Amino acid sequence: MQAVILVGGEGTRLRPLTSGIPKPIVTFVDRPFMAYMLQWLRGHGVDDVVMACGFLPDAVQAALGDGSDYGVRLTYLQEPEPRGTAGALKFAQDHLQERFLMLNGDVLTDVDVSAQIAQHERTGATATLGLVPVTDPSAYGLVLTQDDGAVTGFLEKPGPDQLGGIDEYLISAGIYVLERSVLDMIEPDQNVSIETQVWPALVGNGLYASADRSAYWLDIGTPQRYLQGTSDILAGNVTTQVLDRLTDGLAVTGDVADGATVIAPAIVEAGATVAAGATVGPGAVIGAGASVAAGATVERSIVLDGASVAADAVVRDAIVAPRATIGERTVVEQEAVLGEGTTVGADNVLSRGVKIFPGATVGDGAVRF
Ligand code: GDD
Ligand code: MG
Repeated sequence: MQAVILVGGEGTRLRPLTSGIPKPIVTFVDRPFMAYMLQWLRGHGVDDVVMACGFLPDAVQAALGDGSDYGVRLTYLQEPEPRGTAGALKFAQDHLQERFLMLNGDVLTDVDVSAQIAQHERTGATATLGLVPVTDPSAYGLVLTQDDGAVTGFLEKPGPDQLGGIDEYLISAGIYVLERSVLDMIEPDQNVSIETQVWPALVGNGLYASADRSAYWLDIGTPQRYLQGTSDILAGNVTTQVLDRLTDGLAVTGDVADGATVIAPAIVEAGATVAAGATVGPGAVIGAGASVAAGATVERSIVLDGASVAADAVVRDAIVAPRATIGERTVVEQEAVLGEGTTVGADNVLSRGVKIFPGATVGDGAVRF
């Protein structure tokens, strides 16, 4: 089976994590995000993957190579300029087979895509959208269906006046089974949106949907969801290969001093150090070569390669990019994101989603609430 994965967005909502690297290869727990998608797809018989790239394609290729690590063959395509979700598909047409999967490149999921393909074959659909339930559909594509799965309406990013005030909505999961004939609906060499220009035109015309109500599904495109995904992978709420590394929720190959506390689930990578009196976890990842000093706490957070957390600092519900340094007694919390190589001095409080851009410096006691 073939799949085309859209990896062309700039990932603006995940900045500064995505300031220098594209969203699909941002480190997620212990591997590039795309590794999860490729492993999941491989489990559903996908062996040939076309990566539809825009932003920084060389970095994606450098991180994922020819795909052999994941048991798939990867082909990289780069649009001359961002063509939108359908324009990117059209640009890939010479590489596409009669039937293939199309995926948004930012979904962490274990949706049963085999069941979706089986339904697609049964109904003879032109396109079958994978659906998942959410309570608030406003950031997604809301899909209305009949009992037989035929789609009766597609509303991308519905406003409050378009919602019915119900508890559960079915939204497009960014997972599609497509017949090649869909390509005939897309103008070449144009920026075209599959959500606003193709799906509405296919309603009543071969557009079906297949809901999976028991799967895990998350769009990882914001710091809050990045952290949610990290904690769900560690807790095993989504089936991934990370679980193979954990024993009783722990993988500790780094240097944890006597008198340090590590609470599962947690990962301390090789070359990382956790000093006596420090507490790591639950829900913590300490990357290779990172350090956590005495009295510091890291929980529900990821501290990436080579970053350092000084004595008595607190990192909670936060993302610390590679080689960032956090000074003594500084608190980094509430979805704060420190970009790569940032330097934060002592006695700061960085919280409420604050983003420090790569390489920036925050002096001692400079930010407090
Ligand atoms: N190649 C290429 N070119 N890829 C693109 C482009 C482009 O011009 N624009 C966006 N993409 C990729 C992004 O990298 C991402 O993987 C995917 O297309 C979807 O873009 P997002 O920007 O993440 O869209 P969204 O999350 O707001 O909404 C989409 O996903 C939802 C599910 O997560 C829509 O498809 C919704 O209908 C859907 O519910
Ligand atoms: Mg998205």
